[in-house]
Amino acid sequence: MKPFTTFVFLCTLCVAVLPQLIVARPTNVTKLVTQVCAHTAHKGLCVDTLAADPISQGANQTGLALVALRVASQNASDITEHIKVSVNDASLAPAVQQGLSDCMDNYVDAAEQLDDSLAALLAGAHDDLNTWVNVAIADSDSCEKSIKGFKTGMSKKNVMFRMLCENALAIAKAVAIAGN
Ligand SMILES: *[C@@H]1O[C@H](CO)[C@@H](O)[C@H](O)[C@H]1NC(C)=O
Ligand SMILES: *[C@@H]1O[C@H](CO)[C@@H](O)[C@H](O)[C@H]1NC(C)=O
Ligand SMILES: *[C@@H]1O[C@H](CO)[C@@H](O)[C@H](O)[C@H]1NC(C)=O
Repeated sequence: MKPFTTFVFLCTLCVAVLPQLIVARPTNVTKLVTQVCAHTAHKGLCVDTLAADPISQGANQTGLALVALRVASQNASDITEHIKVSVNDASLAPAVQQGLSDCMDNYVDAAEQLDDSLAALLAGAHDDLNTWVNVAIADSDSCEKSIKGFKTGMSKKNVMFRMLCENALAIAKAVAIAGN
């Protein structure tokens, strides 16, 4: 390659790669986030979701549990909105529409359960929290049954939602044990 071509090539490479380096810089993972996520079954997801939330910076363990529950609740709301849009697709078979409609009811309930769990955490009502987060998980199981055998893209969302709930539950449990 001629020097000029090499120069142009390297510059192009820089321009293409630099923004990714900046964007891909690890988010601010605090020591407590790492410690708290060590209690969870899905550690990578835990660290990613907690570190992405500015409230996690400087939060104590209870604060991180609140963030984890809020992320799960927000996910349930996002999934509800997603279904609301897709359920009206006229090309869907009635059985698929019915399944999605059932999923929508499930996720409306799941978001409510998780919001109640936020209040329970702040009140130190750990048994209630445990019950309600598990109801939210059961909601996503019900959804999975409703759309079984149909291609809806819901299964992936159900799996992800369940993982967010399981993580939140594990973090909240650690809070309950630590007593703060
Ligand atoms: C990262 O966390 C540290 C310690 O909590 C804090 O001092 C710093 O401001 C944070 N940086 C960003 C970019 O949030
Ligand atoms: C921990 O964080 C929670 C939620 O932000 C707050 O209500 C509580 O006062 C904090 N506890 C301590 C000991 O700082
Ligand atoms: C739920 O959260 C996961 C992880 O943040 C995300 O990948 C997924 O897109 C979310 N689902 C919806 C429907 O927003």
